[in-house]
Amino acid sequence: MINKKVEKALNDQILVEAESSHTYLAMATWAERQGFPGTAAFLYAHSDEERMHMLKLVKFVNDRGGNSIIPAIGKPALPYKNLKDVFTALLNHEQKVTMEIHKVVDVCLKEKDYTTHNFMQWYVSEQIEEETLARNILDRLHLLGDEKSSLYLFDRDLETVAVNEGNGK
Ligand code: FEO
Repeated sequence: MINKKVEKALNDQILVEAESSHTYLAMATWAERQGFPGTAAFLYAHSDEERMHMLKLVKFVNDRGGNSIIPAIGKPALPYKNLKDVFTALLNHEQKVTMEIHKVVDVCLKEKDYTTHNFMQWYVSEQIEEETLARNILDRLHLLGDEKSSLYLFDRDLETVAVNEGNGK
């Protein structure tokens, strides 16, 4: 039977991943409406990925004899003025998610649950990749500037990232 404190930490993380999926879905629809189809494709794919992160946790909790809780999630705020706003919010969000994952790992260590600790290492590595990707995208946006032609190129390139991510590259 899964340790109750570990179960609670994993259920908290299920909420974090569900909120991430919801937030990126809201960002995707914003980008689509603003005429950035590549960015929208990237964000829709990212939203799906977060749902997969959530499901992986749900399955793990259930498989370990615990009870996974599917949480209520609030309506994401849409305060974005431009693409820089979106990707700054995305990077900030991922940095918060990393902190939350580290909290789960901490609970595992305190409770000496080495099985869940091992399972969580996948999330630890994933966060390094996600933060790097978000940082690279933001750097590129800053480099390109706010010209319409630059944003067009940026958007077209992100479509390629979305396709590669979808293919697991
Ligand atoms: Fe599942 Fe982007 O954290």
